[in-house]
Amino acid sequence: MTPIPDSSGAGSPDAHSTSDRPGHAPHAGAEFVVVANRLPVDKEVLPDGTVHWKRSPGGLVTALEPILRQKTGAWVGWSGVPDSDDNPDIDGIDIHAVPLSSQEIAEYYEGFSNATLWPLYHDVIVKPEYHREWWNTYVEVNRRFAEATSAAAGEGAIVWVQDYQLQLVPKMLRMLRPDLRIGFFLHIPFPPVELFMQNPWRTEIIEGLLGADLIGFHLAGGAQNFLYLARRLAGQATSKGTVGVRSRFGVVQVGFRTVRVGAFPISIDSGELDTKARSKEIRKRAAEIRAELGNPKTILLGVDRLDYTKGIDVRLRALSELLAEGRVDPHDTVMVQLATPSRERVDSYVQMRAGIEQLVGNINGMFSTVGQPVVQYLHRPVPRDELIAFFAAADVMLVTPLRDGMNLVAKEYVACRSDLGGALVLSEFTGAAAELKSSYQANPYDLDGVKDAIEAAVNQAPTEGRRRMRALRRQVLTHDVAKWAESFLGALSATPTTTASADRGVRLVPELDQDE
Ligand code: ADP
Ligand code: F6P
Repeated sequence: MTPIPDSSGAGSPDAHSTSDRPGHAPHAGAEFVVVANRLPVDKEVLPDGTVHWKRSPGGLVTALEPILRQKTGAWVGWSGVPDSDDNPDIDGIDIHAVPLSSQEIAEYYEGFSNATLWPLYHDVIVKPEYHREWWNTYVEVNRRFAEATSAAAGEGAIVWVQDYQLQLVPKMLRMLRPDLRIGFFLHIPFPPVELFMQNPWRTEIIEGLLGADLIGFHLAGGAQNFLYLARRLAGQATSKGTVGVRSRFGVVQVGFRTVRVGAFPISIDSGELDTKARSKEIRKRAAEIRAELGNPKTILLGVDRLDYTKGIDVRLRALSELLAEGRVDPHDTVMVQLATPSRERVDSYVQMRAGIEQLVGNINGMFSTVGQPVVQYLHRPVPRDELIAFFAAADVMLVTPLRDGMNLVAKEYVACRSDLGGALVLSEFTGAAAELKSSYQANPYDLDGVKDAIEAAVNQAPTEGRRRMRALRRQVLTHDVAKWAESFLGALSATPTTTASADRGVRLVPELDQDE
C-alpha cells in the first residue's frame, strides 16, 4: 500500500495510471468498492463478552445495502465501536473495517463530522463548533480510509465514496491510486455559500471533493451550491466573466481533469417493501398493533433517528396545540414516535432528547387517560418487519424535519401502502418534498401550517386519500434505489478516464446535461 503524503490533501492530484508505468504490477482487489463512515453492520459487545452484529442506523445503509447484495464488491467502513478491526462475515460483501480509537471517534465522528459539518450543512439549526484538533483528526481519519480503500480496490476499480464524513477521501485516494474511477455522493444537504464560507477549512473540503470524477447530490440546488463554491474557492473565473451553470448537471474543469457534478435523488428498495407490506404476516401484525393501541380512530406515526434536524419537537408541539384546541380528540387518537438513539455523546443531541421527552411527558400529562397514553414513545430501533407493520397500520405519517437531504422514511411509508390508505404529512424542507408532491406539505417553522396539514390529513375523505396515495406510490415504485444507483454508476462509468494534470485551476464549463 502506498502511504498518503503528509498533508491535508492540498496540492495537485497528479494523475497518471499505474498500469502505464513499466514495472508496475496491476493492483489486485475488488472491482467495486463502497467507502462509508459506517459498515453496514454495527458491532455490539454483549455483557458476557459475546459479539453481536446489528444493522447500522440511518438512510445510507438502508439505500446501499440492497445495491451491494446484488452487485458483489467490497465495503470499507468503521464498525461503530473503538479499536475494532474485525471484519464481519456478510454474504456477498467483502468487508474491510477501518479501526478508530476512542479519541478519533470523539474528534472525527462526534466532533468534526457531527458537531461541525452536520449542523453547518443543516441550516445551522444548532451552532457548528470549529476546533483545529477536530479538523486535524478528520484529515488523519480520512487519510486512513483512503489507504484502506487503496488496499481493497483492484486495478481500475470503481470506488464510491459516501457522505460528509469522508469529503477528503476522493483527492487523497486519487493521489494514491490514479487508476481508479472515483465517485462521491453526499447524503445530506449541501449548504449555500453564505453558510459554507464559515468553515475555516472550506477550500480543503472543496478540493478534497474535486478529487472525484463524479460528485452527486440529492437535489439540483446542492449541485449548484457546490459548482459556485468550486469556482469561488478552488479556481479562477474564465476570461469571459461569469459562466452559466446548468442547474441539474454541471462540469468542473480541474486542469485537464473533468469533474462532473449532478443531482441524483436517492430512494429505497420500494418493490421489496411493497411485497413485504402485502404479506399476511405483516397485515396481521399491523392489525395487532392497532388493537394493542386500543383501536383508536387515528394512529399518527413518527419514525426517525433521534436528531434535532428531524423536527420531532415540531410535530409534538403541533399535536399538543391541536389537542388543546379540540381539533384532535385525545380519546380516539394515538401518536407513536419511534426514535432510534443517535450520536448520544454529542451535547446538542443530549439536550434535544431531554426536550423531546419533556414534550411527550407534557402531552401525556395533559391529555392522556389511565392506561391510554396519547403519545407512545419508544427510544430504540425496532426490527425491520415490525417497522413495516407500523407503516401499514398508521393513518397519518408525520415527517417534519427542519432540514433533511432526502428522508427515506417518507418513501418507505408510501411503499408500504398498497391498500392506498394513509396520508403523508411532509416538511417542505426535505429532499423528498420535491418528488412527493401529493403529500400534505408544510413549512416546519410555521406551526399553524403544520397543524393545518395534520388536521387535513387526519380528516381527508377516503377518495381524496386514495388519489393522493396512488400518485405518491407511482413516484416511489418507479424511482427505486436500484434506479438511483444505476443512474449514478452509469454516469460515473461514462466519465472520461483520468488524464495527467499539473494545473490546479478550476473552470466551470456550462455544458452537458445528465440526460444528454
Ligand atoms: P437518516 O439517514 O438521517 O437517518 P432517513 O429517513 O433517510 O434518515 O433514513 C432513516 C432510516 O432508518 C430508514 O430506513 C428508517 O426506516 C430507519 N429508521 C429510522 N428510525 C427507526 C427506528 N426507530 N427503528 C428502525 N428503523 C428506523
Ligand atoms: O446521511 C445521513 C447519515 O449521517 C449517514 O451518513 C449515516 O450512516 C446515518 O445518517 C446515521 O448516522 P450515524 O452513522 O452518525 O449513526
